[in-house]
Amino acid sequence: MLKLDSHPTGRHFLQIPGPSPVPDRILRAMSLPTIDHRGPEFGALGLQVLAGIREVFKTKHPVVIYPASGTGAWEAALVNTLSAGDEVLMYETGQFAALWAKLALRLGLKPEILGWAGEDAVLPQAPNWRRGVQADMIEARLRKDTDKKIKAICVVHNETSTGVTSDIAAVRRAIDAVGHPALLLVDSISGLASADYRHDEWGADVTISGSQKGLMLPPGISFNALSPRALDAMKSATLPRSFWAWDEIVEMNKDGYWPYTPNTNLLYGLSESLAMLKSEGLERVFARHQRWAAAVRAGVTAWGLPIQCADPAVYSPVLTGVITPLGVDADALRKLIHQRFDLSLGTGLGKLKGRMFRIGHLGDSNDLTLVATLAGCEMGMQLAGIPLAGSGVQAAMAHFATHPVAAAA
Ligand SMILES: Cc1ncc(COP(=O)(O)O)c(C=O)c1O
Repeated sequence: MLKLDSHPTGRHFLQIPGPSPVPDRILRAMSLPTIDHRGPEFGALGLQVLAGIREVFKTKHPVVIYPASGTGAWEAALVNTLSAGDEVLMYETGQFAALWAKLALRLGLKPEILGWAGEDAVLPQAPNWRRGVQADMIEARLRKDTDKKIKAICVVHNETSTGVTSDIAAVRRAIDAVGHPALLLVDSISGLASADYRHDEWGADVTISGSQKGLMLPPGISFNALSPRALDAMKSATLPRSFWAWDEIVEMNKDGYWPYTPNTNLLYGLSESLAMLKSEGLERVFARHQRWAAAVRAGVTAWGLPIQCADPAVYSPVLTGVITPLGVDADALRKLIHQRFDLSLGTGLGKLKGRMFRIGHLGDSNDLTLVATLAGCEMGMQLAGIPLAGSGVQAAMAHFATHPVAAAA
């Protein structure tokens, strides 16, 4: 375990892009006594959270809740809809898209990986990790698939390893333009409840999400939002599944129960999270994250460091990837910042290890925690001798001062 320089006082700054800081209100809700998961009180809780989570996914169709991390829900989406040897088209926007493809391969599927292949002077080793899904590449590939061998298209809505989002509606339009029958499977593990997401309207067949990001819960539950086509595909899909099988869960969920022991206390937390999101209103939640993200980007720009996302149209409202100058070990910098200021930042993943760090702006944060986060980064970079063009803290403060929160309608 990393040792801090002194005994920490005050709150730890958990500014990684998930798990996000959990509001006290949710922690208190989760501390209620665990109840009988077959009793009447539980059935009411189950029905309530199942109805509430559908509103967050913006779907009228079933949402399955698993007592598992997001990786489990990734697996569930694949094993319920596909059969061994099926071809799946996966678009690599970052480390999480790459890990999902690895999981597909291990399940006996045949993933084909697309990715932007242009030149990038800042990150020549990972040009596709700075841009969102290019829907036209998916359309071109599907046009060539005249035998309709591709059974599913897998994309990540908010790539947590990079801070880049993707236009899911554009991917659906690309599939429809070809009239291709492949299912659209979307990972919105870190997008849901922070970034605009519309399962039904955007034509997703399965949307995967997790508890520990925009829903502001600890890790431990994850989701599959379904479409009627996905439920249909389940009937002919033959990959082995038992724990992940949707059919029994959807059936028992009709009365608010699960075929196995659900995560009761996380469901208490989910109920509280849904109440908080509903009272604020999803549109305001999204605007709040956009505003935080813009202030953090103003800070990074003032430092003179590149933002990892190279396309302003798809900046993530959830996190910002910061590329450190060549020769600077971003992980050594993160370690220094943690030791000196009790602030956790996200590490560079996969092929970007040591080249960047990630600032999470989600969960139980506010303007001041984000200004303080930037202050921790700025002090750390000064201590590490990294030359900065200006003060990111001043830039973020100026952004917040000149962009007040819009009054409630
Ligand atoms: C976009 C994305 N996909 C998948 C995962 C994997 O989820 P988990 O770590 O909860 O298994 C994560 C985790 O951070 C993620 O951000």
